Amino acid sequence: MDRKIQIDTFSRYYQVSRETITSLMKYEELLLEANKSLNLIGNSTVNYIWHRHFLDSVQAIDFIDKNQKTLVDLGSGAGFPGLVISVIAKDRKIPLKIKIIEKSKKKVIFLKKVVSELKLNSDVINQNVEDEKFCFDDDTFVARAFKPVPKILELIHNKAQNLKKIIIFLGKNGMSELLQASKNWDIKYKQSMSVTSNDSFIIEINKLLKK
Ligand SMILES: C[S@@+](CC[C@H](N)C(=O)[O-])C[C@H]1O[C@@H](n2cnc3c(N)ncnc32)[C@H](O)[C@@H]1O
Repeated sequence: MDRKIQIDTFSRYYQVSRETITSLMKYEELLLEANKSLNLIGNSTVNYIWHRHFLDSVQAIDFIDKNQKTLVDLGSGAGFPGLVISVIAKDRKIPLKIKIIEKSKKKVIFLKKVVSELKLNSDVINQNVEDEKFCFDDDTFVARAFKPVPKILELIHNKAQNLKKIIIFLGKNGMSELLQASKNWDIKYKQSMSVTSNDSFIIEINKLLKK
């Protein structure tokens, strides 16, 4: 799929202003430049940023409530899905602050540059979420290609006192990870198929109890 078709496809699924498309083009440019020295995205996806990363990431916006104030993106890497959601929230004038958590200092420098150039309502936090003393006071989390599902659930359950919602992108092993996790957890979730891949899903967990 060539780049123009990818941009058209993105715009068909998520209608945004011309200004927002220009912002995403700037993001793409910064990403391609930084990716020469940093391992931000896989080589196989370099020519498919709009489809594999932008369109894939933006799907999380469908799980965000209108009155929600913050969203924490765990292990954001190149900013996925957090910064893409931030771009779309800005387009839709949703006052949502995205907290981007990333343990790699080099990636954090890149992420801060994108936030500053695109003027996004996001805080980039250089933090290893597994640090013993670290905990969250936030209630809504998103994770894409961060850790296996059981690990994500354990981590959030242990560190988030006010948990309301977890949005997780599941790849082709995701369903078996979820099945594995349900041996130890009582999980209530809604699921929707990804528009970018036949074997991927996005789930929204609204209840998580240890069995
Ligand atoms: C496979 S990448 C996925 C990045 C992005 N979410 C995506 O979908 O492309 C996982 C990211 O999580 C970060 N990470 C891994 N463990 C972490 C931790 N304990 N705390 C914070 N970030 C972490 C890594 O540095 C890496 O950037």
